[in-house]
Amino acid sequence: MKTKQEIFPITRRQFVTSSAAVLATSGFARGANGANTVAGSPSEQGQSEGKTGAGTVRGPARVIIDTDPGVDDALALLLAMRSPELKIEAITPVAGNVPLDLTLPNALRMVEIAGRTDIPVAAGARAPLLRRLVTATYAHGENGLGGAVFPEPTTKPVATPAAEMIRQIVRRYPGEVTLLTIGPLTNIAAALNSDPELAGMVRGLVMMGGSLSGGNITPAAEFNVYVDPEAARIVFQSGIPVTMVGLDVTRRTSLTDEHVRRLEAAQNAVSQAAAKIGRNAINHNRERGYLVGPNMHDSLAVAGFLDPAILGLQDYYVDVETTGELTAGETLGYSPVAGDLKRRPGTEKEAAAANMPIRGSAPTLASTKSSPVLRDKFVPNTKVAVEVDSARFFDLLIGRLSGSK
Ligand code: BDR
Ligand code: CA
Repeated sequence: MKTKQEIFPITRRQFVTSSAAVLATSGFARGANGANTVAGSPSEQGQSEGKTGAGTVRGPARVIIDTDPGVDDALALLLAMRSPELKIEAITPVAGNVPLDLTLPNALRMVEIAGRTDIPVAAGARAPLLRRLVTATYAHGENGLGGAVFPEPTTKPVATPAAEMIRQIVRRYPGEVTLLTIGPLTNIAAALNSDPELAGMVRGLVMMGGSLSGGNITPAAEFNVYVDPEAARIVFQSGIPVTMVGLDVTRRTSLTDEHVRRLEAAQNAVSQAAAKIGRNAINHNRERGYLVGPNMHDSLAVAGFLDPAILGLQDYYVDVETTGELTAGETLGYSPVAGDLKRRPGTEKEAAAANMPIRGSAPTLASTKSSPVLRDKFVPNTKVAVEVDSARFFDLLIGRLSGSK
């Protein structure tokens, strides 16, 4: 059953309660009573009352943006920095679309263009947790910005590394910080690995990443999860309330010439920079034979956080394939109500959930005898975006970048 929900329709306390079974069996770095302890802490309770999406939050929402700019990252960063609903505590570049030696200066360039050098930029991981870096220069050009050239930034990153920066900020504002992740999840996983209590202090995580309908770098995997599947798995199993804005919806956000014309017409530094990046990226796509412009994957995740009405969400238990020879980075979404088999009308959703174990692959003859059942019953850990209002999204994106909204 698809529901049109806000991104944060439940309090953290409710989420943790519903996730207790997952946490109890996850095997990841949470103490046996970790979830309940954190959920019941005074700061957590204070933050939970009346808390919903950014649209209804009182005062700006504290966020950290983890990113690998990246054409669509660049526009997402500009969108975020033009959005008064956000208090951006830090920007944490990571290796992804291009190496860190480019994502870091690209992030600094965006901060300078937006006139937001007040935002600390902290250098992140140079490589995934356990794998060699695979980049996406085929899509983002050698410089990561589709070939659009901007001056060298004069702003310097802060001395603190990204994972430590994330840890410090989340601990400074327990229960308040939402992580907006639009690149591989290496920095976030490193922060969680460094501090077992951290996940319980994060208000939520909205990611561009994953897909329940096939990948873009392999038939199975979306790029951000493909680059660092082990990191993504740590995030999904952390107990943090995750909203997954994946290819299922971001495929419907192609940038057009008309969008770029509107940006070009607006006479401000942000719209001019966004237009330049967008124009280069569209041309790059044309040269590669594509009939459509690049998708604004990352901007959709930011926009969905700003305006939850842009997305329709559905509860899933999401896990990540990490051992596949061809499928590493695939995100699997388990749901008792999303299958092909129709249930009798009136069948209780809860009963359906109780009957649906989370099942992994059949054990091989070489493995020790074990059950393929990984979780006894379905408990959601992620809200997956399954619907998108593309027109509303582009109204917000182009409106904010051009300064008309
Ligand atoms: C994601 O991968 C990157 O290439 C984009 O910036 C986006 O974050 C889309 O799969
Ligand atoms: Ca990205």
